[in-house]
Amino acid sequence: MRKMEFFIDTANIEQIKEMQELGIIDGVTTNPTLLAKEGVEPKEQLKKICEIVKGPVSAEVIGLTSEEMIKEARELSKIAPNIVIKIPMTKEGIKAVKKLEAESIKTNVTLVFSQNQVLIAAKAGASYISPFIGRLMDNGQDEIAMLKESMEIIKIYGFKSKIIVASIRNARHVIEAAKMGAHVATIPFNVLEKMFVHPNTEKGLKSFLEDWEKLQHKLKRK
Ligand code: G3P
Repeated sequence: MRKMEFFIDTANIEQIKEMQELGIIDGVTTNPTLLAKEGVEPKEQLKKICEIVKGPVSAEVIGLTSEEMIKEARELSKIAPNIVIKIPMTKEGIKAVKKLEAESIKTNVTLVFSQNQVLIAAKAGASYISPFIGRLMDNGQDEIAMLKESMEIIKIYGFKSKIIVASIRNARHVIEAAKMGAHVATIPFNVLEKMFVHPNTEKGLKSFLEDWEKLQHKLKRK
């Protein structure tokens, strides 16, 4: 039975540490925006992240030509053996994916918004493909249908690419990803936190403890 992997979508060390300590994190995804939020030297931050999480850690290239992307990818992959290179879903990006995968540098094709883009990235041999479902939803598009068909395409042909459900907006998105057998969900910290919580758990725990206390008093009085 295949396991569903959880990545955390952040470049924040505290958030990564907290979820890592809970033992529910298999990897990390970052992007230029997430790294910029931290306001520190990106490569140093990625090194720190790779020391905490031994699973795949995605780091994105900035260059727009395949030559620039390949050069950057080779540099980024020196940070740690678990670095995966995020490459944008463009023609130049796809060229870079082919070359990098041939050099055994793992790639994660990012900014993916359609089933056709999934198909192209899979044919190029990307290790990971990241459909951005939240941004599709923001545009009023059917993000669930896009994900469902993408998973079908991957499964029918047995493509080696793993789907990372990305741009997750809420806990329901994680359920949808799981129902479709998505390989990975990359989840923001606030959504991971919500996944732990249910009001009945807190209510139930409170009443169990109160009843237990009542019993202790009763036993003392005997
Ligand atoms: O992993 C992709 C993710 O970082 C994009 O998320 O919330 O900026 O749409 P968002």
